[in-house]
Amino acid sequence: MCGIVGYVGKRPVVELLLKGLKRLEYRGYDSAGVAFFQNGKIEIKKSEGKLDNVAKQFKENFEPYTNSYCGIGHTRWATHGKPTTQNAHPHRTGHVVLVHNGIIENYQEIRSEILNHGHQPASETDTELFGYLVLDEMNKGLSLKDAVRKSFLSIKGSCSVVVLSEKEPGTIIGVRHGSPLVVAQDPLGGALLASDAQPIIEYNKEVVFLDHGEIVVGTEKGIDFFDLKSGKSIEKKRVSLDWSSEQLDKQGFPHYMLKEIYEQPNAFVDTLNLMIDRFTAKNPFPLAKQPGVELLYKAKELQIVACGTSYHAILLGKYWLEKWAKIPTQVDLSSEFRYRAPVIKPGTLVIGVTQSGETADTLAVIRDMKQLGVPTLGLTNVRGSTISREADAVFYTASGPEVGVAATKTFFTQMLAFLLWAGNLGFNHGAKVSYLFQKIVELPHLLKDCLSPDGEIISEVKNAAKTLFPMKGFFFIGRGLSFPIALEGALKLKEISYVHAEGYAGGELKHGPIAMIDDQMVVVVLAPQDCWHDKTISNLEEVKARGAKILGIGTRGDKMLSSLCHHFVGLPPGVEEDLMPFLLVTVVQLFSYELAVLKGTDIDQPRNLAKSVTVE
Ligand code: G6P
Repeated sequence: MCGIVGYVGKRPVVELLLKGLKRLEYRGYDSAGVAFFQNGKIEIKKSEGKLDNVAKQFKENFEPYTNSYCGIGHTRWATHGKPTTQNAHPHRTGHVVLVHNGIIENYQEIRSEILNHGHQPASETDTELFGYLVLDEMNKGLSLKDAVRKSFLSIKGSCSVVVLSEKEPGTIIGVRHGSPLVVAQDPLGGALLASDAQPIIEYNKEVVFLDHGEIVVGTEKGIDFFDLKSGKSIEKKRVSLDWSSEQLDKQGFPHYMLKEIYEQPNAFVDTLNLMIDRFTAKNPFPLAKQPGVELLYKAKELQIVACGTSYHAILLGKYWLEKWAKIPTQVDLSSEFRYRAPVIKPGTLVIGVTQSGETADTLAVIRDMKQLGVPTLGLTNVRGSTISREADAVFYTASGPEVGVAATKTFFTQMLAFLLWAGNLGFNHGAKVSYLFQKIVELPHLLKDCLSPDGEIISEVKNAAKTLFPMKGFFFIGRGLSFPIALEGALKLKEISYVHAEGYAGGELKHGPIAMIDDQMVVVVLAPQDCWHDKTISNLEEVKARGAKILGIGTRGDKMLSSLCHHFVGLPPGVEEDLMPFLLVTVVQLFSYELAVLKGTDIDQPRNLAKSVTVE
């Protein structure tokens, strides 16, 4: 979703803004722009399409702008109005220039007010209307900060704005009321501000996450915080982030997505180290003590919600939690759960799972449940993100920054978190899980072997992608623990290669989808040697008999399976059933990636998608 960067201080601002926006590209956008002070006036350069269109307007010559130290930048994901240059941010309304992330809900009402005041908005955006409100208040004599504050109190909706005025050069005002804003002091003197921490961490890893209803004022001297309603000064806690700016580079990989798939073994180890305590915990699944563990122990039932890829992780979570911990576990899409009338039994713990920690629908569930007095838990990859502050307790995965829009390593570590919870709770209920934990510890080594670029798995995946990419459509099927991975495989393929793909539980194929099978269709069959294996093979035979091309992913040496497949990817034998999803998902991610490479799509920033979906 929209990305904001702002800076005031001692560094030349234009290059800093462009670099910062580049770091936010992964959030998804369709136009971009920057605004900066130049000889006391604010200059704006913006364009539809990619950020490069804005960079080109400087003709690679930033020399004339090296004396510009204050500005704001934006990547826009269109909500109100088309993704045109005119609608791109920043917007100018007289001496006021601003960027905005989110939606102003009483847009029509504000628009009539603005027209009544004799203004003629040039764009179709709700943002520009807000600019006019600020302009009118400043023209009545208010300071930039007070004008922004007063204007903000008259709008409804979930959004954040960052505003400059030629009347107050060297001041940046940011307000958060919904979409996230992160702020840091520039160690050289000044203020850095952005929609997430990625553009900031190379300057300062000590950041402040604004809460709803807070204002930040940035000047060359630093940052000050105020309450939006009362206008009173407030103190904010600084959060220290453990991400490094090197992690944000591609490090020789052609795409972030591929790099992030290859980082899965490390992300797994880091998450394991973060979540467990092997020295003092007595449980063979030694979850480190933290408030979230207490909530899990107290819960009689779990209700877990998530969106997108995270939803597939919670589906797997259900299998593991019910199997090992014997705890009744319901899972739902956040966007469905929040608008139905669920029955929440006493003793239920509601868990929101979101890699970004910012997904609007998941956050809404957490808020609604808190209002009902239901205990809530978050699982996220981003420290300081909204869910980490709003849920009663939070667990973190340690995937490091994930830049590719299509989630990969964050899904991987979410799965691990569920398995660790299930194992730990399971032991408390008498399950024999010690051997499983040992296998978990060994998994990253196994995975690294599987990912060897000149190994058999990678070459099979590439071959399959090469032959199958002209086909009309894809079904991914699996049963049991492979079913959520089938859903995830289909989602990955759709997201990054724009090919029609559907994930199905193997047993459901005959209830409709089989009508679509012909020799132009591919069925990716996930059939490792587990308790569901033979049933899945029967489903394979049904579609093969109707002409489908089969890509089988199973256990190396499974002659029965491989003889039925046009392509076969063999995974190492002897892997525990519960660990198979980690290997299977890596293969389907790589398959989607290779197919997308052949299609020539924009893999890291697929069309129409955003990484952090902060609107409904
Ligand atoms: C977007 C992303 C997906 C992600 C989903 C949920 O749609 O493109 O990759 O799975 O949001 O994100 P969350 O942060 O809640 O896990």
